[in-house]
Amino acid sequence: MNENRLEELHVVARAMVAPGKGILAADESSGTIKKRFDSIAVESTEESRRDYRELLFRSETAMREHVSGVILYDETIRQKAADGTPLTTLIEQAGSIPGIKVDKGAKPLPGCPGETITEGLDGLRERLSEYYELGARFAKWRAVIDIGDNGQGGRMPSHTAVHQNAQALARYAALCQEANIVPIVEPEVLMDGGHDIDTCYEVTKWVLSELYQELYYARVELEGTILKPNMIVPGKKAADQSSPEEIAEKTVRCFRNTVPAAVPGIVFLSGGQSEVEATRNLDAMNRAYRGELPWALSFSYGRALQTSALKAWSGKAENVRAAQIAFDHRAKMNGLAQQGAWSD
Ligand code: 13P
Repeated sequence: MNENRLEELHVVARAMVAPGKGILAADESSGTIKKRFDSIAVESTEESRRDYRELLFRSETAMREHVSGVILYDETIRQKAADGTPLTTLIEQAGSIPGIKVDKGAKPLPGCPGETITEGLDGLRERLSEYYELGARFAKWRAVIDIGDNGQGGRMPSHTAVHQNAQALARYAALCQEANIVPIVEPEVLMDGGHDIDTCYEVTKWVLSELYQELYYARVELEGTILKPNMIVPGKKAADQSSPEEIAEKTVRCFRNTVPAAVPGIVFLSGGQSEVEATRNLDAMNRAYRGELPWALSFSYGRALQTSALKAWSGKAENVRAAQIAFDHRAKMNGLAQQGAWSD
């Protein structure tokens, strides 16, 4: 890749993890946003989805001060606000960067019961060039790795699932860079199940090692990428839960062993942690290790930025301001956690 193109990618990647800022994941697929709207008894229509996303993108404090970029879904990147302004323009006007989820979801992986492979590579080159025209400067692809029993006497993850998902992530990342788009590579090791924190550590270490091997083979320039991983946490059903300090120590150790120093930033998914847990754990990492790490540690939360705002909104126009206040608050708390300066 020529140096100017790489520098352009590097500038965007660094802006995505600017001090005190992180990413809003607002790329819920139609199925997922329906589930979120079901929880507040709101019908999911093109208009209600637009209204909800519009209120988030018009939240001044959050967007200007704490949200470096927003991951959008295919429908949203094409939508206009009620007054006709494209939603991407609202994001840009707030000084934030539009991004786009480009994978087509995790589908059953043949030969590996219970496991999935993320699809969406066919036609991706053409889709990326259209998304660039629509304003996207970064993209996201999520691979899903599950820990546990596969129900047929085997253990998950299998080598096949880890390897094939890493390969798909690498080809996606190479295609993004060809299109001048920064790839967020997201290999999510799920926190479902009853496994302990050390199992999460071992599996995540394996997954990240495989990922960086494949990114190398695919000739991806790491300076122009962002990693979106899980934290190292015990499964939700594990008997022993861990302190934020243990989560911070094990997460940082895992990354030091696997993530090259050329990667500008690591932005966590929340993955089912509560809003406060996700903030507290990010804060614990930055509090203890900020200044001694080669990469910025920040957030790319979906549920952990939106749960309170969604509830406050509940689909009613008169609640828009209350929802924005809730969103501003969570964004501010995570902005502080990004600097290790949060307190509850
Ligand atoms: P959560 O933070 O809700 O896990 O969503 C982040 C995301 O984008 C998962 O792909």
